Amino acid sequence: MNSRAKIHNFICLPLPRITQKFLIAILAKKFYIYISQLHIKEKPVSTPANITLFDSQGPLTGRWNKKMRERGVAEEGKPNSFLKRHIHLFPPGRALDIAAGEGRNAVFLAEHGFDVEAIDISKMALRKARELARSRGVKIKTIIANLDFYPIEQGHYDLITDFYFLDRRLIPVIKKGLKKGGKVIFETYLTANKSLGLRGPQNPVYLLKPNELLELFKGLRILFYREGIFKKGKSRKAIASLIAEKT
Ligand SMILES: C[S@@+](CC[C@H](N)C(=O)[O-])C[C@H]1O[C@@H](n2cnc3c(N)ncnc32)[C@H](O)[C@@H]1O
Repeated sequence: MNSRAKIHNFICLPLPRITQKFLIAILAKKFYIYISQLHIKEKPVSTPANITLFDSQGPLTGRWNKKMRERGVAEEGKPNSFLKRHIHLFPPGRALDIAAGEGRNAVFLAEHGFDVEAIDISKMALRKARELARSRGVKIKTIIANLDFYPIEQGHYDLITDFYFLDRRLIPVIKKGLKKGGKVIFETYLTANKSLGLRGPQNPVYLLKPNELLELFKGLRILFYREGIFKKGKSRKAIASLIAEKT
């Protein structure tokens, strides 16, 4: 008798047929529940520390956590150069860093006197963000959330930052989240990045068309806009960058 047959006999033979069917039905149900839980669920939970959880399950979370676990802190914790260059335009206040990743920009803002909330779907990334903040002697609030579900408070922020995270449905929410006089700073890849064969996302959904970022933020006062190929660290990137104000 081969080992498969032995296992089958061990599980099934001593049991009556009706019990076998019952066991199979229970196992099938358990398997179905497991599979359905793999889908994203909205699940707000508050924790007493400087961490808030808001939907931290689902395949998207797993993918980003894996990515974040495997790499070191982005740009060794150095802030985005466009943000660094224009920090003088942003008086300290309440800031929200969208898809904050490992917190290089959130921590930089905290160092410049901002009260910062850093949102990201990846708890691994935000763990690194809190470590970075601790190592620099500042505090940030981290919110583990899927931005597809997270309710950004309206009229609440002096500054909203979004670096290298393009979700077009979020733009109206970002606009509403700003106070009057509040500003947004945004930078991400252009479609040209892919066509020039430069490193970065390949899916056109995550790439801006020419002038698209300007269009997306119409209704706000544009303070700065650029598109082009820029040197970023050791590599080149085709990107668009924008600063705009809610009037
Ligand atoms: C390319 S990284 C940019 C990180 C950061 N803004 C920076 O410039 O260093 C994109 C980030 O988006 C996060 N992300 C992806 N999908 C998300 C979602 N639906 N909700 C919240 N964060 C998400 C990822 O976990 C990742 O940290």
